[in-house]
Amino acid sequence: MMEAFFGFKKTPFSDNPDAKQLFASQAWTQVKARLQFLVEHHGTGLLTGEVGSGKSTAARTFTAGLNPNLYKILYLHWSSGSTLDLLRQLALQLDVEPAHYRGDLVRQISEAIVGLNQSKKQHPILICDEAQLLRHPTLEQLPLLLNFDMDSSHYLTLLLVGQPLLRRTLSLQMHEPLRQRIAVQYHLEGLSREELDAYLAHQLKAAGITQPLFDDTARQALYQATKGILRKVNKLALTALRLAASRKAPAVEESILLDATSEALL
Ligand SMILES: Nc1ncnc2c1ncn2[C@@H]1O[C@H](COP(=O)(O)OP(=O)(O)OP(=O)(O)O)[C@@H](O)[C@H]1O
Ligand SMILES: [Mg+2]
Repeated sequence: MMEAFFGFKKTPFSDNPDAKQLFASQAWTQVKARLQFLVEHHGTGLLTGEVGSGKSTAARTFTAGLNPNLYKILYLHWSSGSTLDLLRQLALQLDVEPAHYRGDLVRQISEAIVGLNQSKKQHPILICDEAQLLRHPTLEQLPLLLNFDMDSSHYLTLLLVGQPLLRRTLSLQMHEPLRQRIAVQYHLEGLSREELDAYLAHQLKAAGITQPLFDDTARQALYQATKGILRKVNKLALTALRLAASRKAPAVEESILLDATSEALL
């Protein structure tokens, strides 16, 4: 209905955008530069940001562009947050049948990581997403995975991704070993007011529309309601377009946007 009314070739503001719909914000350029440094120099990176600011998308998009012959991406998504759980998930990602005991598990993982680097010439990049949910002992385990024995080589690159709480957790004294290893870091925020305009145009263009469908007042209200946080922007913009189509309004104006704000639960 909405697609036909506005003549969209595909739905804009999708929560599962394809590469064409992804927007290269200034922050994204900054993140990319840091992640590029990280994969070239190895070590540990920290990517934090508000809920829905695009952390997971940035980490996944960047790593998807790496040469799979040279890098093996190990993507861990939080499950219970326990150390054993993290080690088991990691072993499975390394194609190893996880051993029962922690000591055996760590040895299996270390061997697999060194083997990847030395035999396959493939460098593993471990991404811990939702890392704000990892428990303290689990975070304390991570530096141990970064250095084996007396060897100072970087066999594993680690990227911690999480909400702002992760920064506060890492500032605790007990996490100094991990904090000291962080070579690059970035905190993602929402789009700026100017970038929001460019983002709306970008999304509409990817959907085949070049005329602005949000008037000035609607764009200002959209910014106020979302502070440029991408998930909120997508949700609110899509709700507003749906509402406009149902009212047969040719564009979104402030009143529609405000009605959409309560409907979108923002
Ligand atoms: N550069 C981008 N261009 C267009 N859409 C984007 C972009 N980055 C993220 N999004 C969209 O914004 C939404 C939130 O992104 P994402 O899930 O990466 O955020 P997050 O920071 O990981 O959130 P959470 O804190 O909940 O884990 C997703 O629907 C995603 O598709
Ligand atoms: Mg995420």
